[in-house]
Amino acid sequence: MAVYHSTRYTSVAIILHWVMAIAFLLMLASGYTMEYLEIPKELKFNLYQWHKSLGVLLLVAFVLRILWRVTHKPPFLPLSMPRWERKAAKLGHFLLYVCMLFVPLAGWAMVSASVYGLPTIVFGWFEWPHIPNLAGNEAIGGLAKTAHWVLAWAFTALILGHIAAVLKHRVIDKENLLTRMWWGKKG
Ligand code: HEM
Ligand code: HEM
Repeated sequence: MAVYHSTRYTSVAIILHWVMAIAFLLMLASGYTMEYLEIPKELKFNLYQWHKSLGVLLLVAFVLRILWRVTHKPPFLPLSMPRWERKAAKLGHFLLYVCMLFVPLAGWAMVSASVYGLPTIVFGWFEWPHIPNLAGNEAIGGLAKTAHWVLAWAFTALILGHIAAVLKHRVIDKENLLTRMWWGKKG
């Protein structure tokens, strides 16, 4: 029997969650396309610019999101959920935040350390600075590239786990967690 929750996330949290979720999925799709698909050179160049542009904007969005998070408590998880599941949800969410910060930071460090010094012009609108004193630093560049790659794959796995958890609650526990991350049901 489903137990419905008396609360949901606030509107600010809901908007940030879904706008950022769509943006991160686009980042993964563009990243994997750049790396693994044969596409024309010019399209590839444009995709890199696009990937960098949206990526650095997501760093700004992350700052807003973490500010929301440290000033608000998320709604209580249902008590019908076993303790291990509540712990797993908390750990999973924490690791999602870690990836939301360190994947774009590693990307930024990678392009800042590049010997090419290509600027990041955010959607042709303004220049996002490189991290100072990194240009041409091959050791940091290599490390950042590996970190971006490893963390992007970890992020992909975490997002799949996150979606699988929501589905598991829906299908097996007959509990719709999506109402917690959408408007409507208040209790
Ligand atoms: C694609 C990137 C995504 C990221 C980075 C992400 C991240 C997060 C994080 C960190 C939380 C916990 C918020 C907190 O308590 O601080 C959360 C909650 C939630 N997410 Fe996502 N999410 C993503 C996509 C999705 C998708 C596609 C779904 C739909 C299946 C979804 C459904 C939910 C739901 C229902 C909650 C509320 C969980 C609860 O407390 O009951 N998320 N998400
Ligand atoms: C915001 C989250 C981000 C996600 C989810 C993401 C995801 C990815 C993925 C999946 C790849 C392909 C990795 C592979 O399997 O080889 C990639 C590559 C790349 N990303 Fe990102 N990225 C993000 C942010 C950024 C940022 C902020 C920058 C730079 C400002 C950036 C620059 C790059 C570059 C230059 C590559 C190509 C790497 C190479 O040549 O090996 N990314 N990204």
